[in-house]
Amino acid sequence: MRSLLSGIAGVALVGSAVLAQQRPADSSHSPRLPYQDPGKPLDARVDDLLSRLTLDEKVGLVHANGKFRAGGVARLGVPHLWTADGPQGVREELGVDSWSPAGWTSDFATAMPVGMALASTWNVDLAEAYGGTVGDEARARGKHVILGPALNIQRTPLNGRTYDYLGEDPWLAGRMTVAYVKGMQAEQTIACLKHYAANNQEKDRGTIDVQVDERALREIYLPAFEAGVREGGALAVMGGYNKIRGEHACHNDYLLNQVLKREWGFRGAVISDWSGTHDTRDAALKGLDLEMGTGKPYDQYFLAAPFLAGVKNGTFPMAVLDDKVRRNLRMLFASGAMDGRRPGTINTKAHQDVARAVATEGIVLLKNQSVGKRPAVLPLDVSKLKTIAVIGDNATRRFAAGGFAAGVKAFHEITALDGIVARVGGRADVIFSQGYRQPEASRSGPRDATGVGTSELTAASPEESKALADRAVDAARRADAVVFVGGLAHQAGGDDEGVDRRDLALTAHQDKLIARIVAANPRTAVVLIAGSPVDMTAWIAKTPAVMQAWYGGSEAGHAIAAVVFGDVSPSGKLPCTFPKSLRDSPAHAAGDARHYPGQGGKVFYDEGLLVGYRWNDAKAVEPLFPFGHGIGYTRFQYAGLQAKLTAAADGPSATLTLQLTNVGARDGAEVVQAYVRPVKPPVMRPDKELKAFAKVLVKPGETKTVTLTLGPRAFAYYAPDAKAWRVAAGRYELLVGASARDIRLTGGVDVTTSTLLK
Ligand code: BGC
Repeated sequence: MRSLLSGIAGVALVGSAVLAQQRPADSSHSPRLPYQDPGKPLDARVDDLLSRLTLDEKVGLVHANGKFRAGGVARLGVPHLWTADGPQGVREELGVDSWSPAGWTSDFATAMPVGMALASTWNVDLAEAYGGTVGDEARARGKHVILGPALNIQRTPLNGRTYDYLGEDPWLAGRMTVAYVKGMQAEQTIACLKHYAANNQEKDRGTIDVQVDERALREIYLPAFEAGVREGGALAVMGGYNKIRGEHACHNDYLLNQVLKREWGFRGAVISDWSGTHDTRDAALKGLDLEMGTGKPYDQYFLAAPFLAGVKNGTFPMAVLDDKVRRNLRMLFASGAMDGRRPGTINTKAHQDVARAVATEGIVLLKNQSVGKRPAVLPLDVSKLKTIAVIGDNATRRFAAGGFAAGVKAFHEITALDGIVARVGGRADVIFSQGYRQPEASRSGPRDATGVGTSELTAASPEESKALADRAVDAARRADAVVFVGGLAHQAGGDDEGVDRRDLALTAHQDKLIARIVAANPRTAVVLIAGSPVDMTAWIAKTPAVMQAWYGGSEAGHAIAAVVFGDVSPSGKLPCTFPKSLRDSPAHAAGDARHYPGQGGKVFYDEGLLVGYRWNDAKAVEPLFPFGHGIGYTRFQYAGLQAKLTAAADGPSATLTLQLTNVGARDGAEVVQAYVRPVKPPVMRPDKELKAFAKVLVKPGETKTVTLTLGPRAFAYYAPDAKAWRVAAGRYELLVGASARDIRLTGGVDVTTSTLLK
């Protein structure tokens, strides 16, 4: 106990209930029974414990007995399994049986940047540190499972949860997922991949029936989950609210039994999204292992009394129940809950450093031009400025609690204004003007089964808006440089759970305001704090500098200041295409309900594989900013691409090498991206697809050799006829560059034999 307390000393005391959860199941005696022996293999312990459980106890392990709690067999010293949201920090404590906050004072956590910020770093080491940080804090808070990472592919930028996810590309999302899971599970906290699968919109999320063809499912929507399971070793997967091809994702024989468990060999537990279970028979037989999101009386739900009755009367075989119990127990044992977990820590300096590094590397500098004869607007040089105007409601807002389930009660959150003021340190005057007011959102309506409820928005009146805008334009005129901090509010209608955005527009007439501010002072940099792309048509051409800062968590303001003032060269790259308009985005191209948000309860993914940049390539649609785009304060030269193919019985692989030189004047990191283009494919293939990347730090004048490897899957497509991945013989171009639209080097390899991958 001493070490546990010292782990959190100086931060806050965690409630005694939490401490109790972390105590070893049987700390006072040496292990007596096989399941109590940490020296035995995990599965042997699971089997031993299973053999000692009564039927009632077994069924008690496959459904919730609290909003975020399940299991527990006091008689055998088995603790409850505690879950918590996720993914960007441990959520505040809710009442055991309700969605209402429990009102603790010790349930804070480090707010990590949102998923899109993490994905923008393209830095797998940071993703691992991120998962590790949340995992460590989960232990300190007595949670065994974190409900994250969230990794649904961005099909539409309107999806209210775009911010939570990892972008539009399966390879990038997969790499970040694997690293996150490894980092978290190394900290004795189970990662739960969500929301499996094709949960790509919040509108009608509980009923919408996704019609997606097999190749799009396998090549776009599943690979990041597959990687999280097969390479990351995730021990939990959460089913989505949506249906796929007529069957609910939480009990979907194809997705769960056939693909996840049989094909990928998943040995962990499938957890329902909260209230995502709809039927006992389906839940029993179609792959669900733990029903969550229910309320009192907990034994009245699908995988509770009705399931028990079905096992008793032989409708459901005992083997079905035993399999579910085993999977749930694996999570519990793997989390160390049976043996006394290592003490966890919360909001340490190390955690803050990870949050800050992710926030900083996640910032994407979209544009940075000179104004007249003067140099590029960014970075700002404090020594040359007398007055800096910081304009915008988002500069003083805190976002960590936004987004409902993903919200975190942050111990601290540095706003953009805080960060800028601290960085300027009195060397120049910083004047702040609110400029606009985000609509106030309140979740005043009744909560639905998922806890989200309805929201009301109150916008500023035209008079208030005009007065705020006039004052801001005046401040801009008086300043030597302007940092406009705009974006969305991470609340209903703008990056929030349960509600999609209506369109891509910025809130609160920011469009007009930005145009006026840039006209008043051309030395303006726009910082966008938003979790998804926004429409920039009204002002982008005349605005010299724009950066996407996402929601950066506890350390957001420090990260923004570091980039604005040039303490680092920005190195983030977009994990999704920023379209010029909604119609340039595949789900919205036809502008009909069939493709979004659905018609007659079904939404049709007719674009198939052409999601994100694959669409832009196929339809020759010019994006506002392409996938993979992001500039820094230095420049890189790419040279000397060489590609070497190795043919093997299990498919071809290739090694690419190239020389990357920093030809600018300062340190910088570049994300080198490799895309594969099949030249004459026997089936329809996207023009090119990201299949490898590396983030490399290079000093000015230095040249580094970058090596990228492509495995057999990099060349393969999913062949539904063979129910397997196939590499077709033929030529493959290898395109290496700084974004999907900035290819610097082209090479190629010839694959001589077709292979069906195992
Ligand atoms: C969300 C999940 C979340 C769960 C528990 C659901 O509404 O979709 O992502 O983990 O609630 O809060």
